[in-house]
Amino acid sequence: MSDTIGPPGVEIIGSGRCLPDYKLTNADLEECMETSSEWIVQRTGISERRRADIANGERTSTISIKAINAALADAKVKASELDLLLVATMTPDSPTPSIGCIVANEIGAGHIGAMDINAACSGFVFTLSMADAMIRSGAYKTIGVIGADTITRFIDYSTAGRGAAILFGDGAGALILRRSNDTSKGMIAHRMHSDGDGGKHLFIPSSELDFPEGVPYDESLCNTVQMNGKAVFKFAVNKFQQVIADTLDDAGLTADEVDHFICHQANSRILESARERFGIPQEKLLVNIDIYGNTVAGSVPLVFAELAESDRIRPGDKVMFLAFGAGLTWGSSLWQL
Ligand code: COA
Repeated sequence: MSDTIGPPGVEIIGSGRCLPDYKLTNADLEECMETSSEWIVQRTGISERRRADIANGERTSTISIKAINAALADAKVKASELDLLLVATMTPDSPTPSIGCIVANEIGAGHIGAMDINAACSGFVFTLSMADAMIRSGAYKTIGVIGADTITRFIDYSTAGRGAAILFGDGAGALILRRSNDTSKGMIAHRMHSDGDGGKHLFIPSSELDFPEGVPYDESLCNTVQMNGKAVFKFAVNKFQQVIADTLDDAGLTADEVDHFICHQANSRILESARERFGIPQEKLLVNIDIYGNTVAGSVPLVFAELAESDRIRPGDKVMFLAFGAGLTWGSSLWQL
């Protein structure tokens, strides 16, 4: 449940992002599976996505390091000033060490607390809400929050895997949060939700044990994204709209009082359904799925960083971060900047 949280304030003082250089276009997908660019654009709004160059060592840790270094430079803060590093990811380089530990070491943050949080595509929004609460508790002053995933290594780029293959891309974004004496700044309301029963609609099995009841075991599906596109679509449209309504209600605001809806980019039709329902003008809901696809935990901070780079967000703005994804999970974090 959401709640209003007391002083001190929390300020977002910098943002950064990193996208792998390699572009996987719809034309590339037409080469390796039965699909058409027209079908993909019409159903999802996606024209291309980025793919980490694993053969040359590009992975979740490396793009996370670039994103947080860009955010630190933007905030004019040294890595040694961070007192906590939280990384939202479901695709760490390996089960351990965490991306948090790798990144804290590589950027020279010292022996600060560092960890990963897995809530799939909702991970960054959940982590942002937790970081706000940790600063307001008085325990931390400057927290780095990263959302990063390289999910394309779990994609089957053949016709059998085309439902998921067309959607996903790799990317990372990061924000620097700092305690502020201005108590009007920071999170105003938030929601975090999960429904483990819906986990069967979007999962990555690694063995027979991971196949949900009713889905026959097939070894060739292991370590690839399995998605019931229709079920996820229905869930996303429904929960996305519900969580916007609930968060506005919690904060006592109307949709037109929010300056930006910073949304997880899963499918342009899902974003459009929320825009229509709440009468959100296009300039308040940035869509960049056309060139990046669905970058899992990376997608929300990538949108924020793009808005910040182009000076479209200003101190005092109210911004609602929103996401939904595997787990199933969904949530929001409404901030005054
Ligand atoms: N290219 C061409 N045809 C495809 C295709 C592809 N990449 N993927 C599926 N099809 C075909 C299907 O085989 C089916 O053919 P049929 O009618 O002959 O059986 C037809 O297109 C419709 O398939 P369906 O799965 O019902 O399509 P859809 O309209 O639901 O679109 C998604 C598929 C994946 C684009 C859509 O379901 C979606 O976006 N779901 C949400 C996924 C999501 O957001 N996941 C991440 C959450 S964080």
